[in-house]
Amino acid sequence: MPVIFHEGAKEFHLFNQTLSYVLNVLPNGQLGQLYYGKRIRDRASFSYLMETSCRPISSWPMKELPNFSLEFTRQEYPSFGTTDFRQPAFEINQPNGSHISNFVYLSHSITAGKPDWAHMPHSYVESPEEAQTLEIVLADAVTGVELTLSYTVFEQISAIARSAKFTNKGTDPLRLERAMSLCVDFPDDDFEWMQFSGAWARERAPKVRKLEMGVTAIESMRGHSSSHENPFVILKRPNTTEASGDAYGFHFVYSGNFLAQAEVDTFNVTRFTMGINPRQFSWKLTPGESFQTPEVLMTFSPDGLNGLSQNIHTLLRTRVARGPWRDQPRPVLLNNWEATGMEFTEESILNIARKGAEVGVELFVLDDGWFGHRTEFSGLGDWYVDKSKLPNGVKGLADKVNALGLKFGIWIEPEMVNEDSDLYRAHPEYVLATPQRSMSLGRSQLVLDFSNPEVVDCIYHQLVESFEGANISYIKWDMNRSITECYSRHWPADQQGEVYHRYILGVYSLYEKLLAKYPHLLFESCSSGGCRFDAGMLYYAPQAWCSDDTDAMQRLRIQYGSSYGYPISSWGAHVSECPNQQVGRSTPIETRANVAFFGAFGYEMDLNELTDEEIEVVKRQVQFMKEHRQLIQFGTFYRLMNPYTNDKGAWMVVAPDQSEAIVGLYQQMNQVNTGFLQVHLQGLNPDWDYEIDGKLVRGGDELMSFGLMPQDASAHPLAMLFDPDGSIDLMGDYDSKLYHLKAIHHGS
Ligand code: GLA
Repeated sequence: MPVIFHEGAKEFHLFNQTLSYVLNVLPNGQLGQLYYGKRIRDRASFSYLMETSCRPISSWPMKELPNFSLEFTRQEYPSFGTTDFRQPAFEINQPNGSHISNFVYLSHSITAGKPDWAHMPHSYVESPEEAQTLEIVLADAVTGVELTLSYTVFEQISAIARSAKFTNKGTDPLRLERAMSLCVDFPDDDFEWMQFSGAWARERAPKVRKLEMGVTAIESMRGHSSSHENPFVILKRPNTTEASGDAYGFHFVYSGNFLAQAEVDTFNVTRFTMGINPRQFSWKLTPGESFQTPEVLMTFSPDGLNGLSQNIHTLLRTRVARGPWRDQPRPVLLNNWEATGMEFTEESILNIARKGAEVGVELFVLDDGWFGHRTEFSGLGDWYVDKSKLPNGVKGLADKVNALGLKFGIWIEPEMVNEDSDLYRAHPEYVLATPQRSMSLGRSQLVLDFSNPEVVDCIYHQLVESFEGANISYIKWDMNRSITECYSRHWPADQQGEVYHRYILGVYSLYEKLLAKYPHLLFESCSSGGCRFDAGMLYYAPQAWCSDDTDAMQRLRIQYGSSYGYPISSWGAHVSECPNQQVGRSTPIETRANVAFFGAFGYEMDLNELTDEEIEVVKRQVQFMKEHRQLIQFGTFYRLMNPYTNDKGAWMVVAPDQSEAIVGLYQQMNQVNTGFLQVHLQGLNPDWDYEIDGKLVRGGDELMSFGLMPQDASAHPLAMLFDPDGSIDLMGDYDSKLYHLKAIHHGS
């Protein structure tokens, strides 16, 4: 029973094997928060965890309750305007201009499983025994608004899914000006805040800072979740490492504007809130209507950052991602973007695909350029095939690719339009643009108004028509610019504050329509690489193009950073040509693959340009991935050595039964005469011996306690010249090495 209600104390204890979360009904009828952290034993009451010692110079919300002030009270879903001066969870603007509200407990329900909501991405269960859901209903007497706070506690995964719903049961129209998805008031401020930030082509770099009094925040106002700040935050204790200590994760299951912030007050209380960015958000709540916030997933681990990430990987991979591809090893793919750009013919594409078939690739993906009169400046919005490139249509090409024994995939960017397109000429009102203001271009394109269902329908029908009869197995859905001058001509003036959110709901609705029409499709989401890489997207597309930066050294970092919050199977990782198109660096083809194996693996080049020797290497790589992708994409992943702070980087995956593991070790810039290297492995069975690459045998205990000892050329520079027995593991810049460990069971 993961949710217990203590009637006498009016307290709720939510728990599973790992975590406990305790909240109560406060003396003023609002909800308070008592505990969130490592699992604690249940008690009839935890009311003593509420701070009651009075502080001078404060104000009391109710004359009848001296010594009780919201300023000093940890709350569940706080409002602003009475005695709490911190960041609120919500704000309701009322017809008389007031923003004050007072939501008091009305009722609650505890049910097995998790209710479904159709219109937004969310975590789910496959059977009611997997979770329990607590819904608490609160009401504000003056406005007549009902607020429902939902909590789903997963039994086997250390996670609670939360959201809030406002229903206007009053008689006046209201405006919801802020509706965060959750608030957590921690009793202390001894936290480090970890965010995952960057920009296009250098996404999700971990940044850590100590929380101090005041507000620490990340956000997006770009209309998509962005590469600048990912909607995922970790709060960890300063002594938490990869292997031990408390860590709290928060994922916003949403792909649009967001805000995540921690406010430390003067009494060291840390208030964490996450939700739709309140800037430019204003939702008209007419009588009878409801507004449901997107979901936030709270995860907790007492076993360090690796423990937190592994828990998150299971949650996102198995209870957010959906569809037939969720549990399937991902096909090895070949994409033509870096090989051809938009300049290709059916024959040049088939030429690339043929070489792919020869090396064992399973899926060929035709990228940008196949539709309309597509150039860098034109064609987006016109989803009919360009017959000058593909005279036999999408079907014609798909058939020929299929005949090579490959599945066929295709690129789309459905949310965009070029001014130079038939669609824009016919429907200039279909774009997001503010009347009488100029429109900013991004990549020479404008953003379609997906808050208007007619626009979504128009794109849907175009796509379906051009795909007619074609056997399409995969779609790469791109989104290559942020939203500017956000204004919809479809909505009246008093609903413009809804457009950003309605836009994202429109994106989700197109995903749903396409999935309903083509239920077997594997979607890969993309936004100039990883600019919309979030838990919301995973609900529709179980993998995302990780980054447009395909350089192995940069990818080592980006994939390492991504692994904190996202599963290995959730990102596309491809071997591309050298010198690399983004950074101009040349890395060995082995290293490019050794990095890309840790992801949904593929190639992003014209394989015809490789030498015969390289083709043999590629064949072995494809074979390796096919043999090991189940372990790599679905095993337990450990970060071992951080490439952001070391010359080297290392990670590993371990089979669920610990019988097998693969370790990846990577050299960035080589150094001479360095210290000795030990790579401390994790997750092995300490009682078993492991055979390494069919050669050495070492104990699981030693490999974790002493570590793997790679033969590192940097320790002896001349070794690079004399390596007769090939025993040197890392030979110089950009070198890498995979170790394959197999357990030798029951050796004793
Ligand atoms: C974006 C994607 C690339 C490629 C191009 C095509 O940049 O991230 O992978 O699909 O668009 O225009």
